[in-house]
Amino acid sequence: MDKIVIEGGGRLEGAVVISGAKNAVLPIMAATLLTAGQNEIDGVPRVRDVITMLRLLNDLGARTESFERGHIVLDTSGVNNYEAPYELVSTMRASCLVLGPLLARLGRAKVSLPGGCAIGARPLDLHIRGLEAMGAEIRLEQGYIYGSVKQLKGTRYYFDTVTVTGTANLMMAAALAEGETVLENAAKEPEVVFLADVLNQAGAKIEGQGTDTLVIQGVPSLKPIDCRIFPDRIETGTYMIAAAITRGDVEIQNCVPLHVEPLTLKLRQAGIIVDNNGTSLHVNGDSPFEGVNITTQPYPGFATDLQAQFMALMTLAKGQSIIFETVFENRFMHAAELNRMGADITVQGHTAVVSGVGQLSGAQLMATDLRASASLVLAALAATGESTISRVYHIDRGYLDMEEKLSRLGAKIFRTK
Ligand code: EPZ
Repeated sequence: MDKIVIEGGGRLEGAVVISGAKNAVLPIMAATLLTAGQNEIDGVPRVRDVITMLRLLNDLGARTESFERGHIVLDTSGVNNYEAPYELVSTMRASCLVLGPLLARLGRAKVSLPGGCAIGARPLDLHIRGLEAMGAEIRLEQGYIYGSVKQLKGTRYYFDTVTVTGTANLMMAAALAEGETVLENAAKEPEVVFLADVLNQAGAKIEGQGTDTLVIQGVPSLKPIDCRIFPDRIETGTYMIAAAITRGDVEIQNCVPLHVEPLTLKLRQAGIIVDNNGTSLHVNGDSPFEGVNITTQPYPGFATDLQAQFMALMTLAKGQSIIFETVFENRFMHAAELNRMGADITVQGHTAVVSGVGQLSGAQLMATDLRASASLVLAALAATGESTISRVYHIDRGYLDMEEKLSRLGAKIFRTK
């Protein structure tokens, strides 16, 4: 298995270009199942989750015409299979995004239940109840969701919890349902807004994206999708923190500053200089920074996907920081690894108290999930001495060319087999 070796202590300097958003492209790829024709998606990062989704779509009968330089051409005319098998869903939960589109397109779906994961239980109950409210018959058997329906019907549905993929799944199903669907307490993440906009360009009638209430008038069919994926806000935030934690000076190019505003404000509150230049952000971490508190929340709150990286930064802050995780119940696995580097973090339930220490030291570390891995990379960049991070396949799921990008900024980082 691959490992990443980092010789820490250096300052990152220069410019980094942000890639297309993984969590935006996955729902768009699933949405191609709603169409029968040649879909084109540009700006696609060739990360492992994208490859897994492509494999799933190919299994379902879609044909990848090409995938070159971030441009996917996907022909969905021949979609005829309705099973998302355990092997794929267990490696990537976002595979469940095909549930709504398959029911809408084929009237049938068999999608494996993903089971628990490293950051929490993450059930699909809200997806399932919503589809039932739209008339689908759903049964759970032998670890699979079996769904069938003659024609999905519009409904009014309230999400008990804000769910990103839940909102995407029901929005896609409702796009081809008969009549009007109203989704209350819907997710407002940029990835959800983008999906609504792209579906509308393909002929859907969705209103209210970016608010709590989505109103969707079903249409009989959609045209193929043709879109360009926007820059990844979590990758953006990760490089912002990389600049800050190494006391560096980095220009983060090709990003959407608005999407990382909560992080920007928290970094500034801590004493880090962040300049917004429209489509780029300039982060300077020359001055010492202080501990600040964060609470993760659905968008536009502080992103749970940046909590682990922010915690790594806070381990080196002056004073204390309280980190409250409200989105997932078990998303502090990185704390124990950071403590092995000399950090001072106490976790109790959903709260982590981070007392800043003067220095971290390199160690042998193990990645547990995608963003936890990123936090270990950041801590290792700032630590004295060498760190080795194993199970780096987590990083490959969502960060395009991370070692290359960091190397170009001056990091001493390489991969061993
Ligand atoms: C999406 O996951 C992202 N994944 C996650 O990014 C991200 O952490 C998460 O949203 C929150 O922002 C993709 O977009 C592919 P949720 P998702 O449903 O949709 C509970 C990364 O690192 N819930 O919004 O699966 C759930 O357990 C990944 O890139 C139910 O109880 O998350 C959680 O506590 C990790 N029942 C909360 O809602 C349901 O039916 C929010 O989860 C659905 C969700």
